[in-house]
Amino acid sequence: MRLAAVIRDAPPTQQGALPMKRLIPFALMLLSPTASFAGAEDRELWISLGADAMEPVAEAFAKEGWKMPPPSLTKKEVSVIAVRESQLERIAHVMHEKFNRCAGFVTFETQDEAEKSLVPEPLAPTQELVTYTIDNATAVNCMIGRLTEPGVRSTITTLSGYTTRYYTHTTGVNAANALRTLWANIAASRSDITAELFTHAAWAQPSVVLTIPGSTLASEIVVVGGHLDSISSGSVAPGADDNASGIASFTEVIRAAVSCNYRPLRTVKFIGYAAEEVGLRGSKEIAAWHKNNNKNVVGVLQLDMTNYKRPTNTHDVGVVTDYTNAAQNTFLRNIITTYGGGIVQRDTTCGYACSDHASWTNQGFAASIPHESTVSSGNPYIHTVNDTISQSGSNANHALKFSRIAAGFVGELAKGVTN
Ligand code: BES
Ligand code: ZN
Repeated sequence: MRLAAVIRDAPPTQQGALPMKRLIPFALMLLSPTASFAGAEDRELWISLGADAMEPVAEAFAKEGWKMPPPSLTKKEVSVIAVRESQLERIAHVMHEKFNRCAGFVTFETQDEAEKSLVPEPLAPTQELVTYTIDNATAVNCMIGRLTEPGVRSTITTLSGYTTRYYTHTTGVNAANALRTLWANIAASRSDITAELFTHAAWAQPSVVLTIPGSTLASEIVVVGGHLDSISSGSVAPGADDNASGIASFTEVIRAAVSCNYRPLRTVKFIGYAAEEVGLRGSKEIAAWHKNNNKNVVGVLQLDMTNYKRPTNTHDVGVVTDYTNAAQNTFLRNIITTYGGGIVQRDTTCGYACSDHASWTNQGFAASIPHESTVSSGNPYIHTVNDTISQSGSNANHALKFSRIAAGFVGELAKGVTN
């Protein structure tokens, strides 16, 4: 029986080579009041990953003295396997070493959930009925006019100043709380705007949600998000580009929206997701929450890595065409052309569920992700101690372009007015 085999073959928790690994079971003991003591030590989880990644992961497992179970299901080059929570970090590193970040995995609580995810749900009718028009320049241009590079840079500096934003680490929790405080302070003049934590039962780091309620179409929701956590093979994970930059790009839009007294027709939610780096876990719970509560999410924009421009790149933005919505991508390209200030865009693919947009796609919502480059020509320093803003000339010029894009997306999809 696979479950028994996995439990037997799981590593003893004190064996972890990385300091963070040892903290996971400890944090879980504190945070899972319902879990049994044994379960809290090292839970079984299910992951989906590219079938081509099975062999390297099996090799890495063998090196650690762990056994890899056979996949329970494989469909369209993606396999589902059972693992222990303590093994996630090792798997993440294999992906990055072997595939140069081009093979991800997604984590699920149950086998059923994991297997269902291999077949994305069809789009709910509401998504298909959205009409994409570009006719709200007054509001968008007010917001774009208030975006500043020092504003974006300050958020990157603040977030990357935490030693790590790893999802089980105390400083990862502190960073999320600080982001909520930052957003609450930015929106202090607006009593209708809320900045809340979305807590996750299975780990310490919360997600953060800022909501601008819509006026006449409040039940329709536009989401702009990015992950707030970071990861690296050591204990220091500044994650300046991955993904303090994405958070900073849209935090600047929040600042501009408040400054312009922006009042959208649709409700706008800005979300900093927890625990992306360990399998899109925060966004998966948030997207499922919206689905399960029949929330009408009309569009999702993901910002993950916005501030690194490789000197040899002639383009500024890669529009990711897989695990995203084609109609909304067309809208996004038009937004970039209209409001991007002359920046150059290309299409690109991740080849797998590489970031939180895939969580929304998997729940049937329309999601898009404009990336800092084509995926293959991106930042070589991510997931290392060297993912700092100094790799980007210590400025946020590139990330500011994504603030313009996000402001255009919000102003045109949620519509509404500014003063
Ligand atoms: N920011 C990356 C995703 C990414 C990397 C997009 C390079 C485009 C180019 C993200 O934080 C990440 O590391 N994702 C993991 C997969 C995830 C499911 C754990 C990855 O890419 O391996
Ligand atoms: Zn990452």
